Amino acid sequence: MVAARITVNGKETPISPAAPHTTVLDFLRERGLTGTKEGCAEGECGACSVMVARPGVNRPTDWVAVNACLVPVAALDGQEVITSEGLATGGSSGGPTALHPVQEEMAVRGGSQCGYCTPGFICSMAAEYYRPDRCAHADPGDGTDPEHGPNGFDLHALSGNLCRCTGYRPIRDAAFAVGTPTEDDALAQRREQSPPEPVATEYTREDSTFLRPGTLAEALRLLRERPGAVVVAGSTDWGVEVNIRARREKCVVAVDRLPELRALRVESDHIEIGAAQTLTEIERRLDGRVPLLAELFPQFASRLIRNSATLGGNLGTGSPIGDSPPVLLALEASVVLADADGEREVPLSDYFTGYRQSVRRPGELIRSVRIPLPLSPVTAFHKIAKRRFDDISSVAVAFALDIEDGTVRRARIGLGGVAATPVRALAAEAALEGRPWTAETVAAATRVLQSQGTPMDDHRASARYRSAMLGQSLLKLYAQTTEAVSA
Ligand SMILES: Cc1cc2nc3c(=O)[nH]c(=O)nc-3n(C[C@H](O)[C@H](O)[C@H](O)COP(=O)(O)OP(=O)(O)OC[C@H]3O[C@@H](n4cnc5c(N)ncnc54)[C@H](O)[C@@H]3O)c2cc1C
Ligand code: FES
Ligand code: FES
Repeated sequence: MVAARITVNGKETPISPAAPHTTVLDFLRERGLTGTKEGCAEGECGACSVMVARPGVNRPTDWVAVNACLVPVAALDGQEVITSEGLATGGSSGGPTALHPVQEEMAVRGGSQCGYCTPGFICSMAAEYYRPDRCAHADPGDGTDPEHGPNGFDLHALSGNLCRCTGYRPIRDAAFAVGTPTEDDALAQRREQSPPEPVATEYTREDSTFLRPGTLAEALRLLRERPGAVVVAGSTDWGVEVNIRARREKCVVAVDRLPELRALRVESDHIEIGAAQTLTEIERRLDGRVPLLAELFPQFASRLIRNSATLGGNLGTGSPIGDSPPVLLALEASVVLADADGEREVPLSDYFTGYRQSVRRPGELIRSVRIPLPLSPVTAFHKIAKRRFDDISSVAVAFALDIEDGTVRRARIGLGGVAATPVRALAAEAALEGRPWTAETVAAATRVLQSQGTPMDDHRASARYRSAMLGQSLLKLYAQTTEAVSA
């Protein structure tokens, strides 16, 4: 096996002697690339943002911004990384340094004061600069779409980057001023070539090993042979465990590039989403095909996190405040579980068994998530959190209703944050089904919905607030839909 290595700013560098748990952030800084900063070490600030080359959605390769503080460097064996230092050109060859267009705009529009956050903003901004279909989504110029610039720049690309001193207006000005890459731009040209292949990795230092198997069968065999091994995909939960809770494991098995976990297929009676598809990939590949998912994505963490986070990881971590379970419960999704003996399909409503516990057996992986078709036409996802973006839910409610001739034929409601597990609101569903979609029905069902689950008081919200928000959520859905249903 070839020694583990990573290409940083065009230069191949051995990963050794880094430990298997060493993050990309620490690896870069130890090699003098100190533009990549540590702010929080838990994915919240974006000071550590770097670009990685990944399989593209519309072109062979996309430049994708990720949180370097969460990803183990061993996970990038054979991959290509660009840091803020690698964006400017010329300086290393002895000539004057030419700023990258994104750096230039940040400089001339006053987008940087102390500069601590700036390299991270630059990398997130550069990834959006290189997004192939960026210009197709431009604001029409009348300001009706405040989240997109006239150049198509999607401000959500910066939703994971925090700045404490400049203020966001000059940063937005810079983002909305960037043009399109020139034909001789090397990073733009790189998008037309194949992405770096995933590399089978076995990286051991002292008594810990990072393994990247090449196939699902190999991964399942490894998990059977090494029952204590920890599975990682995008590492957005795992990276926090490593940095903040100092988790160190003897064996980590990466599943994020397994081809069998990376499919996304729309069949006649269901949609199958590979567990290792990132949320950004699902969002872009489905392109609104599942409106409830399309409503979820912008509210899930930040673009930086969504660029790595997977559905398998969100279900695998089993948090009662995870955002995808309520949505997938309302969609009546099931999970396909695989182990060395074969596969089984489990309805998501039967998957969670207790706080962060599930029916998943040791050695079993989530291979995919299946969403049955057709979809219910009336859907909504309400995430109640303290901030609009990049925050964890206090309560999350997802609705999927069939309303025909003014009557609720079918109701599915998924809840997060009101019990030890994500749950279906079965009693509230029954209070709606077969009844007219009227204010009276909704008022009665609201009382039922408010009594669902066993919410707790914690630092995010009180139990009373959580119950009250359940009711508000149904009233909001009614307000949102009455016009559409009666039309
Ligand atoms: C700053 C920040 C903001 C966040 N915001 C949100 C948010 O708004 N909403 C939300 O729901 N979550 C949020 N999260 C949590 C996290 O991003 C999600 O849970 C994400 O989906 C995890 O996916 P991952 O691929 O990164 O998982 P990883 O960290 O790689 O793994 C998480 C767990 O899942 C297991 N796992 C991974 N893949 C599989 C598989 N295929 N089969 C079985 N087990 C598997 C792993 O063993 C591990 O226990 C946030 C995290 C951070 C750091
Ligand atoms: S250091 Fe804050 S997101 Fe990585
Ligand atoms: S420029 Fe100081 S934190 Fe952003």
